[in-house]
Amino acid sequence: MRHEKPVGERVRALEWTGEALRLLDQRLLPHEARWVEARGAAEVAAAIRDMVVRGAPAIGIAAAYGAVLAARAHATGPAGDWRPAFEAELRGLERARPTAVNLRWALVRMRRRLDAALVAGEDPAAALEAEARAIHAEDVAANRRMGALGAARLGGRCAVLTHCNTGALATGGWGTALGVVRSAHAAGLIERVYADETRPWLQGARLTAWELVQEGIPVSLVADGAAAWLLRQGGVRWVIVGADRIAANGDVANKIGTYGLALAARRHGAGFMVVAPLSTLDPDTPDGHGIAIETRPADELLACGGRRVAPEGAGAWNPVFDVTPAELVDVLVTEAGVVERPDRARIGALLARAGAAGG
Ligand code: MRU
Repeated sequence: MRHEKPVGERVRALEWTGEALRLLDQRLLPHEARWVEARGAAEVAAAIRDMVVRGAPAIGIAAAYGAVLAARAHATGPAGDWRPAFEAELRGLERARPTAVNLRWALVRMRRRLDAALVAGEDPAAALEAEARAIHAEDVAANRRMGALGAARLGGRCAVLTHCNTGALATGGWGTALGVVRSAHAAGLIERVYADETRPWLQGARLTAWELVQEGIPVSLVADGAAAWLLRQGGVRWVIVGADRIAANGDVANKIGTYGLALAARRHGAGFMVVAPLSTLDPDTPDGHGIAIETRPADELLACGGRRVAPEGAGAWNPVFDVTPAELVDVLVTEAGVVERPDRARIGALLARAGAAGG
């Protein structure tokens, strides 16, 4: 059955009930849609660490709601009495995953709002709840804007290749790179989406294909190892990916395999587009060398779908992100505008413009 609303508007990775944070357990998709409820910041941190919720913007939003739960648990009486316990919860959230800067960005914003609330004598938990809801809503609006901007850059109807899952499930809604695909599809610009399966968590196979199939957007899954060969065939005009952190010089940390795609795209004449909200830009990190790359347990690679695939005794190296040098990025799409061939100067100018506009 086809639904009236696009999946990008119907599917949600998370919902704030007013009392708790409900998370769609992404480890079980597409076979089962089970919601779990987090009632404390430590539960939110565990859900982020264990990949119940994933995707840079989505974990930033989840952390913001985690801060609300921390305030509800601790913020009574003089702030000097409860702030240390509150801060300990925030540190737990911040440590849950190291690469996506959206997590830290959201918590910096929540701390600032708390400071302002305390100065103004407002109720801390209520002020933080409003801030978390704003972060959530702004992310959806940013995605819609990036969708339109990115679609306008495709230069006509074409096939695209994407990696990991950057859709409604990875964000507050709609998606970053997949948001561009959605907006482009609505404008009749998408011939076909090739989706990397994205080992080891299979975000492409389980999540991206699931989002696209439900929306009637033609999708072909490719093994990660097939991507360079696909690009060599010449039928894909754009590789479109999201990001977990973009350094001040434009280097892009994203799901492992992104760097290889950028190299292959450059070699075979496809465009390489990165789509990320300003909350993913990290002006405090000068270049990609300063980005912490998460390494996850070897077992996640040695097994597939809970079943061991490698022999006992084999080890594994399992970095789950890589860094693509800025020089391989043709277009960076943010909600504040599009940057061609991003570098330090162009990103600085974008941030200055966005800051001046209150972005
Ligand atoms: O390990 P994950 O699934 O959290 O990794 C997600 C990605 O790498 C995405 O490309 C990135 O977070 C951008 S999501 C809009």
